[in-house]
Amino acid sequence: MGYGKSKLESPLVALPDCNYNSRMRNPVIVALDVPTAEAALKLVEQLAPVSGGFKVGSELFTSAGPDIVRRIRGLGAPVFLDLKFHDIPNTVVKAVAAAVQLDVQMLTVHASGGVEMLKVAEQVAQESAWKLGHAPPLVLAVTVLTSLDTAALSQIGLDPNVSRQVRRLANMANQAGLRGLVCSPREVVEVRQIVPASTQLVTPGIRAQSAPADDQKRTLTPREALSLGANWLVIGRPICAAEDPRAAAEEILKEIAE
Ligand code: C5P
Repeated sequence: MGYGKSKLESPLVALPDCNYNSRMRNPVIVALDVPTAEAALKLVEQLAPVSGGFKVGSELFTSAGPDIVRRIRGLGAPVFLDLKFHDIPNTVVKAVAAAVQLDVQMLTVHASGGVEMLKVAEQVAQESAWKLGHAPPLVLAVTVLTSLDTAALSQIGLDPNVSRQVRRLANMANQAGLRGLVCSPREVVEVRQIVPASTQLVTPGIRAQSAPADDQKRTLTPREALSLGANWLVIGRPICAAEDPRAAAEEILKEIAE
């Protein structure tokens, strides 16, 4: 089982009508953390030309079901399915195979699900995709949630040193063959020292200097995250909860370009 890493290209592509800078891949993935399909599709319509893809998470998926993924894909936008699978390997295999049927470009599993779970998640993603004749999604291992800090980690009984815990999980995910990781922008530099240069680092916890952090504990600005080595920025509330989401997204892209 398994396919050579060199055959695989980054699965997300810039939208053809991206008016930001057509020569540059748009790194902003908009988190569609909204409760209904209607609200999500309205945002996709507004934001498709200025975003690199859309993240469908637990809230939207639970209320709107897999059909919302098909509809976004039907509009031609890349989808990051963020359901953070964390279960026994057999169950995760079935869930990943189902996600591949939806033709998503990225999906998440919790690194803390263990090395065996990670290995089979990557293997089944590749096998199922090749059977369907499309590129495999990037299976991303979630290291430590960006909402957790030292106190929260020790409460769970994990290493309270966030950085050490992230490095431990990143190393395990890399050994399991995963080609991408989710980490806080504050850990990008140390994670980069552990994983190959081709590993895609996806960072939530992105906030402009003046914006409220909300429940995120370990944030950086979009520009800081990219300059430290993040490949993709996941941005939710700063765009979707803005009075004018399109203007908010454009402002972020402008800041990155500057
Ligand atoms: O609104 P905000 O920009 O904080 O949204 C961040 C998004 O990234 C949310 O959808 C959240 O579920 C997701 N996420 C995260 N931390 C992780 C993994 C995913 O905040 N470690």
